[in-house]
Amino acid sequence: MNQTLKQRMGRGGPGVATAVLWALCSLAPWGRAAAEEPKVVHAPYAAQMCDSCHEMNGGNIGGLLAPQPELCYQCHEAVDTGKVKHGALAIDSCTTCHHPHESAFPKLLKAAYPVKNYAEFKVENYALCFGCHDEKKILVKDATATTGFKDLAKKRNLHHLHVLREPSQYQRSCRFCHDPHSTGQEHLLRDKFPFGSSAVGLAYTPQVSGGSCAKTCHKEVGYVNR
Ligand code: HEC
Ligand code: HEC
Ligand code: HEC
Ligand code: HEC
Ligand code: HEC
Repeated sequence: MNQTLKQRMGRGGPGVATAVLWALCSLAPWGRAAAEEPKVVHAPYAAQMCDSCHEMNGGNIGGLLAPQPELCYQCHEAVDTGKVKHGALAIDSCTTCHHPHESAFPKLLKAAYPVKNYAEFKVENYALCFGCHDEKKILVKDATATTGFKDLAKKRNLHHLHVLREPSQYQRSCRFCHDPHSTGQEHLLRDKFPFGSSAVGLAYTPQVSGGSCAKTCHKEVGYVNR
């Protein structure tokens, strides 16, 4: 959240009382059919600040005020400043994955993705990622899996090992290691991962045919990617 957000939210939007009423009405059970209830409504959309993104012609919606990601960076910190950028950003920018108005998924996502470190693994819970990436990268247990994340003996798929760990309450989300936007390390590996109220470093060293991770979760361990 940057300064512009505060400025924009403080200007041109409805007064606090109107905003509170709007929020109450949309939360009320009679406000919407329960089955269609979106879980997340984007704050400027909820506040009916359509003109924060759309050109308005009289009462009608015209085009967008700016192309993405600038449209979003009016209010949000840039998320694509890391050295390694997610290929998904090049498709439809932010709305490749986020809905600009409201969504049934957390963080306005267009499909399911667990936004917590530990989550029981089910393919449908990662529909966002598997919409573009092959789920077999995670699901196949042995090294025939088409992933570059394999143990040094070339026997095990280390994606499977980390994500499908037992017992199931310790199954790890992609979020542990990958940032969905951009990072300073290869393969969208996070520089730090969120853990409780702090952020813990992920010390990754790329090597010619793989890499290694050290310190935080285990001593330095290497892997091969070919
Ligand atoms: C945060 C920016 C933002 C806000 C606020 C916003 N919109 Fe949008 N809107 C967009 C974007 C971006 C698209 C294009 C969606 C796409 O291409 O996937 C869009 C598309 C639309 C469309 C075209 C049909 C559709 O759903 O794709 C309509 C109609 C619309 N918006 C109406 C509104 C109204 C009415 C409001 C205020 C209640 C509003 N928007 C607020 C960003 C916004
Ligand atoms: C007019 C200001 C404004 C614009 C423009 C805007 N946002 Fe937001 N956005 C907000 C506010 C306010 C919040 C809620 C504050 C928070 O959660 O930190 C928010 C929250 C979000 C969230 C988190 C939702 C959640 O459930 O936690 C996402 C994701 C997001 N915006 C994406 C976008 C994208 C993508 C665009 C461009 C299409 C965009 N925003 C444009 C103001 C804006
Ligand atoms: C590959 C899909 C993808 C694309 C493309 C994408 N995002 Fe996200 N975004 C995510 C996911 C997944 C999360 C939830 C991350 C988490 O909490 O683990 C997220 C979270 C966010 C949040 C909320 C951060 C928070 O901590 O609440 C904002 C804001 C956001 N994205 C903005 C953007 C903007 C702006 C763009 C375009 C430059 C963009 N995103 C493009 C997948 C994407
Ligand atoms: C709209 C399609 C799309 C979605 C959705 C998507 N990705 Fe990607 N992803 C790509 C593209 C395109 C690339 C770049 C080409 C490639 O490496 O396959 C990429 C690359 C990556 C890479 C880096 C590959 C490397 O070795 O450098 C990782 C890691 C990744 N994605 C993880 C994720 C995760 C986690 C999710 C879910 C939160 C996700 N992706 C959702 C399209 C997508
Ligand atoms: C324990 C850390 C860790 C977790 C958790 C993790 N990954 Fe990865 N991932 C990696 C590493 C390391 C690489 C780089 C492999 C290489 O060198 O090619 C990678 C590479 C990738 C790639 C690039 C292609 C490939 O398979 O080599 C994709 C796509 C990907 N991961 C998606 C995901 C998705 C989706 C999830 C969650 C379901 C996930 N990852 C969870 C560590 C992780």
